[in-house]
Amino acid sequence: RLGVQRAALWAMAARGDELARLVSAPWRGNPYPVYERLREGAGVHRSSTGLTVVASHELCSKVLRDRTFGVRTADGVEPPPFAASGLPGGVPVIPSFLELDPPDHTRLRALARPAFSPAKIAGYRHDVGGVASKLMVPLLFDDDFDLMAQFAAPLPIAVISSLLGVPDVDAAVFARYGRVLGASLDGVKSVWHALLVRRANRELRGLFTRLIAERRANPGRDVISTLAASAELTELELATTCELLLLAGFETTTNLIGNAVWTFARNPDQWDRLRADDALLGPAVDEVLRYEAPVQMTARFAHEDTEIAGVPVAKDGMVIVLVGAAGRDPAAFDRPDEFDIGRTGQNDHLAFSSGAHYCLGAPLARLEAEVALRMLSAHFPTLNVVGTPRWRPTTVIRGLRSLRLHH
Ligand code: HEM
Repeated sequence: RLGVQRAALWAMAARGDELARLVSAPWRGNPYPVYERLREGAGVHRSSTGLTVVASHELCSKVLRDRTFGVRTADGVEPPPFAASGLPGGVPVIPSFLELDPPDHTRLRALARPAFSPAKIAGYRHDVGGVASKLMVPLLFDDDFDLMAQFAAPLPIAVISSLLGVPDVDAAVFARYGRVLGASLDGVKSVWHALLVRRANRELRGLFTRLIAERRANPGRDVISTLAASAELTELELATTCELLLLAGFETTTNLIGNAVWTFARNPDQWDRLRADDALLGPAVDEVLRYEAPVQMTARFAHEDTEIAGVPVAKDGMVIVLVGAAGRDPAAFDRPDEFDIGRTGQNDHLAFSSGAHYCLGAPLARLEAEVALRMLSAHFPTLNVVGTPRWRPTTVIRGLRSLRLHH
C-alpha cells in the first residue's frame, strides 16, 4: 500500500534502469553530487524504461502544482505491475489521502485539516515545550546519549499521540513501526521486511480500531473523537486516516530534529549564531528543511499525455520529483551547498511538497523543531558528536540511525 511509486522505482532499478538506480541507491550517504548531475541541462531526465525524473526547483515545483499530474494513475488505480503487490494476510488496507487524488483526497483532507491549522497548532507550544523539557532532564545527567532514540523520536511521538488521543504510548515501539513503514516507502525489499510491515500495519490497525470504538462511546476533545464523529468517513477511511496522521506526524519530524542537530554540529558557527538570537529559530528550521530534507522525493503520474520542459510524458507515466535536489538548486538559492540560517527573504524549499498535497502537518513540524532547537541550544553550548553517525539506508526518507552526543 505504502509508496507504490517508490516500489516501482526500486523495481526499475532492479531491472537495470540506470536512472532509477541513481535515484534509489540507498547506500549513498551523500546524494547531492548525484542530484547535481540530475539537475544538469533542463533538470528533467528520461530513462529508456520510461522513468522521468525532475530535479530542478522550477520543474519540481511545476509538477507538484500542476493538476495534470496526480498521485495515482488516471483511472485512480495503481500501475498494473504493482496493483497486486499488497501483502497477503495483512489487514484490509485502502490508500490514505496522501495517496489519493480528488475528489476523495479533497474530502478526506478537509476533514483532517481543522485539527492542524496554524492557529490551532500555535496553541500547543506550551504543551510541546513541556514534553521536550521532560525528555531533556535525563539527558543532562548522562555523559553521552543517543539524541535520536532519547529525544528526536520520542518528542514527536508523544506530541502526535496526544493530539490524536492515543494513550500509554511506548515510544520505542512506535519508533520501530515508523522506521519499518518509513523504509517501505522505498518498496518492500525482503520477506523479512514484508513480515515486519505486516505486523506494524496489523498492530496499528488493532490499536486504532479499539480507540475509535472507545471514542465513539466516550468522545473526548482529541482528533480521533472529532474524526469519528464525522459521517463522511467510512470505517476503513477513518482507521487509515488515523494511521496516516500518526506516522506522518512523527517519522519525518524525528529526522528533521536529527538532521538539524547533525548539520549544526558540522557548522558550529551557525550554532553559535542560533544560540545568540532566538529570532533565528524559524529561519533555522527552514534552512535545515532546505539543506537536509527529511523526505527527499515523491512521485506523480501524468493523467494525460503531456510534456515537461519539452520531454514528453505519456499518460500514466511516472515522474519522480526530487525535492531534496530542488533544495540545492543554484538557480533557486545562492550558495546552495552552504548551511546559512541567516538567509534573507523567503526560503522557498519544497521539503513539505507543494500544491494539493502540501504537508498538512507543516505548522506542527515547524513548532516541534523550533522547540527542540531552542531547548538543545539552551543546554548544549557545543554539539559534541561521538563517532560518525550513519544515515539510514533509505532513499525517500533521509535520517540518521542514531546520533550520539556527549557533554
Ligand atoms: C504530506 C513532508 C511532518 C502530516 C507531506 C508531504 C511531504 C511531507 C513531502 C507530501 C508528499 C507528496 O506531495 O507526495 C513532511 C516533513 C515533515 C512532516 C518533511 C517534518 C519535518 C508532518 C507532521 C504531520 C504531517 C508533523 C502531522 C500530522 C502530513 C499529511 C500529509 C503530509 C497528513 C498528506 C497531505 C495530503 O496528501 O494532502 N508531508 N511532513 N506531516 N504530511 Fe507531512
